[in-house]
Amino acid sequence: MKESFTFKIIPEIIFGRGAVEKIGQEAGKRGASKVLLVSDEGVAKAGLLEKVRQLLLKDKLEVVIFDKVEPEPWVETADEAGEMARQEDCNLVIGMGGGSAMDVAKAASVLATNEAKASHYQGLDKVPEPGLPKIMIPTTAGTGSEVTFTAVLSNKKPKGKGGINSPYLFPQLAILDPLLTLSMPSLVTASTGMDALTHAIEAYTSLQATLITDALSLKAIELIARNLRQAVADGQNADARENMLMGSLLAGIALANAGVTAAHALAYPLGGLYRIGHGVANGLMLPYIMEFNLQSSLEKFAKIAEAMGEEVKNLPLEEAGKRSVVAVNRLSEEIKVPRKIRELNVGITESDFPEMTTSAMKVTRPLENNPRRLTEEDTKAIYKLAL
Ligand SMILES: [Fe+2]
Repeated sequence: MKESFTFKIIPEIIFGRGAVEKIGQEAGKRGASKVLLVSDEGVAKAGLLEKVRQLLLKDKLEVVIFDKVEPEPWVETADEAGEMARQEDCNLVIGMGGGSAMDVAKAASVLATNEAKASHYQGLDKVPEPGLPKIMIPTTAGTGSEVTFTAVLSNKKPKGKGGINSPYLFPQLAILDPLLTLSMPSLVTASTGMDALTHAIEAYTSLQATLITDALSLKAIELIARNLRQAVADGQNADARENMLMGSLLAGIALANAGVTAAHALAYPLGGLYRIGHGVANGLMLPYIMEFNLQSSLEKFAKIAEAMGEEVKNLPLEEAGKRSVVAVNRLSEEIKVPRKIRELNVGITESDFPEMTTSAMKVTRPLENNPRRLTEEDTKAIYKLAL
């Protein structure tokens, strides 16, 4: 646990059913006259994009739409969105959707005001100038992107993924409206929910964890573990949706400060090399990394088990800690997310492990945060267990 630290959080969060109705007013408050609205096909098809466009028009704002964000978005997509904001003279960016749409929106806001292409800024603190003001509106409960300073983008050459990490990526406002998540399909609910759980557990066990992030991540674990099943089973359950969105938000704030650990690192190659969705990849790697990390912090893993609803009071500490892994496996099984690499059906065999390992070992920050040191050999062994 770190005793001296800096805690960063975005300036404003509006949470609640119907909160999105305030978008026009809030954009106006931030000086907007012309808005770039970044989103994806799914959000457009669900009618949510049009809803927000109408709300903005009602408040006399001009709206330019960029709705071409794909899953695991390419750097070129962010370049295109940034160029659009610049060409159209937009003075505010709104990101609406899951992590991909919000990440592209965040990247576009700085690409509109900086000279180089997105790939130039992948890394830590490489963006020289502040971007346009931005507001995020998540429509999934998982990524936490609405409160983080990262935009993860995919590259074709060399093949992989990399984050633009800069304080200029912090949104000025996040509007979280649980009603926007009601139409999310159950598969997306399950995988994004597992991403949120991974954020919460990894932030909680990270070497960068603080008392503040611990309070947030433990509450997030509890909310997610106790509501994800219901949200997957019945998407219209507004209470479950609301609790999931809150869980994802708290986990996002925790991860923006404590970082994530090895599950994210080992999931990276699955996304970068095989285009497996971020939530699926994380959910798959999470229990294997927890098992590996168990001995490093038995007390914390026992607390995770308890937050997930396991009866651990009378158990020896080691047994109580192990229950956290049991609880995650049970949840994954019940909401039917892949628990083995072979279930992904992308043809990964043991011969691919050296390339995957090399790629995972490059994700240095999460690996440095991991409570137990992870070698190349450990990484290969974990992939083998997960195969
Ligand atoms: Fe994540």
